[in-house]
Amino acid sequence: MNAESLKRAAAERAAALVANGMRLGLGTGSTAAHFVAALGERVRGGLNVVGVPTSEATRGQAEREGIRLTTLDETPELDLTVDGADEIDGSLRLIKGGGGALLREKIVAAASRRMVVIADGSKRVERLGRFPLPIEVVPFGLEATRRAIARALDRNGSRGDLRLRSAANGGPFATDGGHFILDAHLGRIDAPEALAAALATIPGVVEHGLFLGLATGAILATDDGLIEVGAV
Ligand code: 5RP
Repeated sequence: MNAESLKRAAAERAAALVANGMRLGLGTGSTAAHFVAALGERVRGGLNVVGVPTSEATRGQAEREGIRLTTLDETPELDLTVDGADEIDGSLRLIKGGGGALLREKIVAAASRRMVVIADGSKRVERLGRFPLPIEVVPFGLEATRRAIARALDRNGSRGDLRLRSAANGGPFATDGGHFILDAHLGRIDAPEALAAALATIPGVVEHGLFLGLATGAILATDDGLIEVGAV
């Protein structure tokens, strides 16, 4: 199967987890888009759910699919979030934010009783960090924040380039919240919890792509079939 068929298979399995009346978090990215499409089909078949989108892109797709949307202000507690990931390790720790939606994705995941990750099997890793870690920062004070992050990485034993993410027009990529992203090319992250704690103390850092203790289950699609990890 090609990557798109694998992503669709994981997404369709996740769509089958959705029950009538559920309050859902709707992830962002190409795998999550397959989930939103599969959910839309079920909604058109009579399923009654409400969803909180994790990005403007997902909002647009969900509206086109006819999925009823809400906000975390109206619906602060969600039953289930389904989202993709850039990396997932054996303890359900994730790197997310390759699509730039990490801030809303983390807020939505944290508001959910369950978070099920959907991905093709290539996202499964022994150790996090080969995928560059996205760190969302406010544009004000960018260089000072970049240096503070570099020092924190250094203290954590995680050395690597910090690259400002670019948009297609060559300027800095801006998130839905108007922030920039520094991608930390670390190669490996030996102590994700310590790194997450260090990044969280830096003024100017809005959020980072380490999702620790948030995912409750995962559906990984491989050529040999679906692998379920944790509680799905
Ligand atoms: C967006 C994300 C995505 O979930 C992640 O990048 C995976 O995307 P894809 O399913 O397209 O591989 O974190 O911010």
